[in-house]
Amino acid sequence: MQVKEELEYLAKVKNMLAGKAQKYMILTMGCQLNENDSEKLCGMMEEMGYTKTENLEDANLVVFNTCCVRENAEDRLFGKLGEVKKQKEQNGTIIAIGGCMMQEPHIVEKLKKSYPFVDVIFGTHTLHHFPKDLYESIQKNGKIQDLLDIDGEIIEGLPIVRDHSIKASVTIMNGCNNFCTYCIVPYVRGRERSRKPEDILAEVKELAEKGYKEITLLGQNVNSYLRVERKQGLVSEEQEIHSFATLLRAINKIEGIERIRFVSPHPKDFTDDVIEAIRDCEKVCKLIHLPLQSGSSKVLKEMNRQYTKEQFLNLVKKMEEKIPNLTLSTDIIVGFPNETEEDFEDTLDVVRKVKFEQVYMFIYSRRVGTPADKMEGQIPEEIKHQRFDRLKKLVEEQIEEKNQKYVGTIQNVLIEGESKTNPEYLTGRTDSNKVVICPKQEGRIGKVIPLKIVSEHMWYLKGE
Ligand code: SAH
Ligand code: SF4
Ligand code: F3S
Repeated sequence: MQVKEELEYLAKVKNMLAGKAQKYMILTMGCQLNENDSEKLCGMMEEMGYTKTENLEDANLVVFNTCCVRENAEDRLFGKLGEVKKQKEQNGTIIAIGGCMMQEPHIVEKLKKSYPFVDVIFGTHTLHHFPKDLYESIQKNGKIQDLLDIDGEIIEGLPIVRDHSIKASVTIMNGCNNFCTYCIVPYVRGRERSRKPEDILAEVKELAEKGYKEITLLGQNVNSYLRVERKQGLVSEEQEIHSFATLLRAINKIEGIERIRFVSPHPKDFTDDVIEAIRDCEKVCKLIHLPLQSGSSKVLKEMNRQYTKEQFLNLVKKMEEKIPNLTLSTDIIVGFPNETEEDFEDTLDVVRKVKFEQVYMFIYSRRVGTPADKMEGQIPEEIKHQRFDRLKKLVEEQIEEKNQKYVGTIQNVLIEGESKTNPEYLTGRTDSNKVVICPKQEGRIGKVIPLKIVSEHMWYLKGE
């Protein structure tokens, strides 16, 4: 759906604020999809006449874009709200909260009871209502709650202000139908629905024209792109783009784009056509994020991941055989209910065998409303932390070993800009997403440059 009516409120707010210098601050707490939503919120706020500030004291409007995938995200929001309350009392700052956490009724209750000073609450399905909600809140000087429990439509045509000028994220689908038993995402983001191929291609072409070099395709389960629509008969295999593999092939042809990445695919949907598209498309980076979650077939079953340890390892083997220069990254959860020492050893075993380029490690966090939260056999915090530390140690050893292998090699590095910590250096990334810094030279930003790696440091490499 193309937004139109909602966007009329952009001008209405702008008129209302006319002449007054207004600033906004945004705090983004979640994943890349959440960040992409924040870029749209920034786009809307800037159209309304707000300018961005990183300084809470200067802000007339503070927006929180929340996440609820783990408990620490919640703690962060409630901690910050205390700070912002003081600002509101002193300066009349408007406070708006949106994002995934607002789709959880118990959180909204808590907000209304303990943080009644919040002005606007909106959810994942009502992002595009933000200008209207803000307008009504300012005009009526009242509290607005705008939440929908249904699966929102795909919204096209929102203004956007992007965080980078070289690389950009493009959401290709919303929602998730997998219902992994630990995960809150399907409840707060709704059912899986894909954007139309033509809308995605138009966005990527526009980015290429603006000089963007790298795009990351986003979705909770990207390799089931258009699956629901195929089942519903809305898309047929006769159409050029009817699947994730065909989408990759089409984007690979767009001139100006040099690199294509995507997160996250699901191992169960990693079909041969996807593997072949990755192999054939020279712009698709050969670092693939393949979320393992656990190495124990028993735990995987309890998690409803729909693959076993052996199937995961076989998939890795097949991908390694078919895709030259493949590297892998992954997500792992430790301390899922009933995870035994033996189960955890299975996870370590897979990590030892696959030698991931990067491992994002998480301690299992109980989420209200998910099946795993109701399971008996929750693991004591102390054991979860011990296992986390053991996994971390193994991962760090592997990363060090991997880093050493880079030294002396030539890597193609997309230069993203000046190093934030040292202005005499430029920073960029390899195909495998490793950060590389190199001495500054004019005219290199936005280019893919071959660099010789001269030294390694835990989180980055140095090149010449
Ligand atoms: N759709 C993506 C990402 C989902 S959220 C995927 O399936 O890979 C990102 C990661 O957070 C997950 O991969 C998982 O490792 C982690 N995660 C999700 N729910 C969690 C929970 N309740 N406790 C701890 N980690 C969790
Ligand atoms: Fe959550 Fe699983 Fe969906 Fe990923 S695939 S968002 S982990 S339910
Ligand atoms: Fe968090 Fe929502 Fe992303 S719960 S991980 S911000 S989809």
